[in-house]
Amino acid sequence: MWGEEPPLHPTSATLVVHEGDRTIHRSVMTAEVMAHLRPASECVYVDATGGAGGHAEAILQASGPDGRLLCLDRDPDAVARLTSRLRSFAGRLTARSGNFAELAEFAARAGISSVHGILFDLGFSSDQVDAPERGFSFQSDGPLDMRYDRSGGPTAADIIARTPQTELADILFEFGGERRSRRIAREIADRRRRQAFATTADLAGFVAGILGHRGRTHPATRTFQALRVYVNQELNSLSAGLGAALGLLAPGGRLVVISFHSLEDRIVKNFIRDHAREGRLEILTAKPLRPGADEVATNPRSRSARLRAAAVVA
Ligand SMILES: C[S@@+](CC[C@H](N)C(=O)[O-])C[C@H]1O[C@@H](n2cnc3c(N)ncnc32)[C@H](O)[C@@H]1O
Repeated sequence: MWGEEPPLHPTSATLVVHEGDRTIHRSVMTAEVMAHLRPASECVYVDATGGAGGHAEAILQASGPDGRLLCLDRDPDAVARLTSRLRSFAGRLTARSGNFAELAEFAARAGISSVHGILFDLGFSSDQVDAPERGFSFQSDGPLDMRYDRSGGPTAADIIARTPQTELADILFEFGGERRSRRIAREIADRRRRQAFATTADLAGFVAGILGHRGRTHPATRTFQALRVYVNQELNSLSAGLGAALGLLAPGGRLVVISFHSLEDRIVKNFIRDHAREGRLEILTAKPLRPGADEVATNPRSRSARLRAAAVVA
């Protein structure tokens, strides 16, 4: 088993614990999320990245009896699972499958014009990374897919097959921080002329063969991150989602974002800083909060999490 390298490796925000036949999802930094969102009854919240529904459940519990939650996830499977998990809150929960870049439209369709708090818990979930058929993991073999929403758009295999070599190198460098991007892209371009890449194990092994095994992170970590971010256009979605969130938040409303790699965190930090300079946001976390040692010990996947929070100036 390969270790994960903070700060670049994307981690999932939930720890999956199996107890008998029960699967328990532990969301990352839930106490810190709740302390900054401060859910209350008769208020409206958005969980922009529902995932396994752990944070959503905590928000619904804390905002009882009358708090309302709009929950989005780009992955329809996640929405189906969290809808089932949270069925006891059905009257207060609206769960929709969609990109948080379109948050304004989803809110309007749900009859919501203003909210008191919005949470983004970025990246992929344990359910996604632990399912080989989703193609997110270099630790198990599956198709090179990596799409959160499998209903359309190019897969990682498509990107690897079709992207010109120099552009592929740029993707690996820009979205994965891969310093040896040109070499990897050149070797991929050479190999794909003979044989297409179709599986995660094939790509992971190929990149490992080029870079060699050094350190405790898998050599394909950065390549996989870059492809996932590019396939899902994650950074564009994040910028659009943050803008939409600011448009929806009521005065005093709170924005909480957990990111898992430096590219995301930079976008969040700059967004909050720029709007604080304009007097629209108050920064609630001068430095990003990190999970405590206890949380990292019980959920190693939480260790690259960084939480930033801000409030709309009243
Ligand atoms: C880290 S998980 C969230 C875990 C969740 N907070 C919990 O407590 O279980 C991130 C989720 O965000 C979703 N996601 C990623 N990008 C998205 C986007 N642009 N719009 C909506 N959901 C997205 C992924 O499908 C994944 O389920």
